[in-house]
Amino acid sequence: MKKLLSYIYPVTKKTASSHNGMLEISWINGKKILDSENANYSYGSLQRVLEKGIKLTSLTNVNTILLLGLGGGSVIKSLREKFNYKKHIHAIEIDNDVITIAKNEFNIDNSELLTIENTDAFTFIEKNTTQYDLVIVDLFIDTEVPPKFYSKTFCKNLSKALNNNAFLLFNLGIDIDKSIQVDEVFSFFNDSLKFKDTQVVKINKINSLLVANKK
Ligand SMILES: C[S@@+](CC[C@H](N)C(=O)[O-])C[C@H]1O[C@@H](n2cnc3c(N)ncnc32)[C@H](O)[C@@H]1O
Repeated sequence: MKKLLSYIYPVTKKTASSHNGMLEISWINGKKILDSENANYSYGSLQRVLEKGIKLTSLTNVNTILLLGLGGGSVIKSLREKFNYKKHIHAIEIDNDVITIAKNEFNIDNSELLTIENTDAFTFIEKNTTQYDLVIVDLFIDTEVPPKFYSKTFCKNLSKALNNNAFLLFNLGIDIDKSIQVDEVFSFFNDSLKFKDTQVVKINKINSLLVANKK
């Protein structure tokens, strides 16, 4: 019924979260999406941004994926349904209320092929000893990427978490032209002899995605 009504006018439900303020779950034109106060988090424009990024990688030899920033899990739906990726995904999310939304509203839940861990991505990657074939970094609080994710420490730990030939897809932020922090992240991977084909791709005019391939 909500889906049907949403073709006439958007149907919105608001819910408080521990780290992301008020979140909105809306039905718009028959599609359910998750928004923060000022940004789309999942199943809207953000999902399309990550899909364009995935098309710039190759999933042929990808056996394990690490996702930093679960949100409503739209990139997981894309990987499963659009890109036919059937192997394991390890997803990290700081906000337990978001994990509940992913489960109850979008059917994204722990399974044999999906491990969801409720922890800070910065601490997780610091302690991590596993290497992945694709790491997707999609960490926002509303419209901002928390500054610690632009640090050299985080980049070094990301680099360690990638297998040889692995891909990195890093959503660097919204409207970040001329950002020194973003330039530093780009330089870290571009200057590193361990990486090739590092590029920052502008998607939908406002989202910048870093794509890099470990040698
Ligand atoms: C844009 S949403 C992610 C959308 C998701 N990738 C998808 O495909 O639907 C950003 C998420 O990053 C999470 N986040 C922000 N800071 C974090 C941190 N320090 N550790 C883990 N998750 C964090 C937020 O709670 C939010 O759920």
